[in-house]
Amino acid sequence: MRIREWDPRSASANEIHSLVETVNAVLAADLPGDPPWRDVQVKDYLAETMPGERRISWIAEDDRVPEGEGEILAHVSILLLGDIGVLEVMVRPDLRRRGLGRELIAVAARRAYLEGFSSIGVEAIGGTPAIAFYESLGFEREYVETRSVLNLETVDWPALTAMANGLGSGYRIEYHPGGPSDVLMEAYARAKAEAQHDEDDLDLTPRSSDPQRLRDSLETLHRRGLKPYIVLAIHEATGAVAGLTEVVVPAQHPERADQYDTIVVREHRGYGIDRAIKARMLFELRGAEPGLGQVQTWNAQHNESMLKVNAELGYESDRDWFEYIADVTQLVQRLESS
Ligand SMILES: CC(C)(COP(=O)(O)OP(=O)(O)OC[C@H]1O[C@@H](n2cnc3c(N)ncnc32)[C@H](O)[C@@H]1OP(=O)(O)O)[C@@H](O)C(=O)NCCC(=O)NCCS
Repeated sequence: MRIREWDPRSASANEIHSLVETVNAVLAADLPGDPPWRDVQVKDYLAETMPGERRISWIAEDDRVPEGEGEILAHVSILLLGDIGVLEVMVRPDLRRRGLGRELIAVAARRAYLEGFSSIGVEAIGGTPAIAFYESLGFEREYVETRSVLNLETVDWPALTAMANGLGSGYRIEYHPGGPSDVLMEAYARAKAEAQHDEDDLDLTPRSSDPQRLRDSLETLHRRGLKPYIVLAIHEATGAVAGLTEVVVPAQHPERADQYDTIVVREHRGYGIDRAIKARMLFELRGAEPGLGQVQTWNAQHNESMLKVNAELGYESDRDWFEYIADVTQLVQRLESS
């Protein structure tokens, strides 16, 4: 087996295709209910990052085949952002438990160490081998969220109509496919900034809350093949963004969308905004994305009001997703001494 640094930008179409096959083998083994990936904008998905962030990748391939001509059997990447490196690793299921995962983490951790990063974070999915894997490497569990999935076929559309219309007076709903217009960006950023204080997770996917970061973030989504849809509640007297909900439809698996942030600004709570914007979003998605079958979302278990609204919409909880963290120096030492 050969492990080498790999730049998706210069990868051949065959390599990208082989990576998609590995992703799909991993999904079939670990998350059999999740839709497989298509070979659409995968290079963009892997190569593009927010300005100021860097993603470094390595692959494992058969060392009897010339570089670049064989299959990608395993992949690791580390996204360097702020003061934390975020790891993602996958090993083809038929090659597991031979030390390959550990070797890939060692390569990525060493680089994070050399680049001066002090901690590494990772998301691990409950009920998959990743939990025992990261715990065996000394990663510590910091945060847990539950994933819930809404199946659009089971949605009670008449009930949703009532929710979409049940908005308190003084507010209106706006739909912004692709992202909010530039004139709204300041107000949108203010609403995002408000929610920043409520979070206690590891910031592995930091929220952008100033107007320029938001523009960059929306542009980065588009470049990665992730199409954003946004529904806003506007407080008519002030023009403020009172609530927002964001869904992204990935070109790599357009059957399953990701619900990103839903925020209702504190002083605007209690007016039915959460229900109304999420219900409206589902109507818009149904029209705009005929191939869409499900929407998935992640919530902290203490976020009871959000969980209640999601249950009313028809979301069903699926499994837990954990954020783990490790100190880079300790991780490198542990991996080198084993
Ligand atoms: C997690 C993963 C990378 C591990 O890769 P791997 O090559 O099998 O890992 P290693 O062989 O290096 O295992 C190192 C240690 O981790 C622990 N471990 C790994 N898999 C384990 C399992 N299934 N059960 C118990 N312990 C496990 C063991 O302590 C193991 O050491 P040992 O084999 O000497 O007992 C691999 O299972 C994988 O690709 N999972 C999918 C990751 C993912 O992102 N899934 C989401 C869907 S896209």
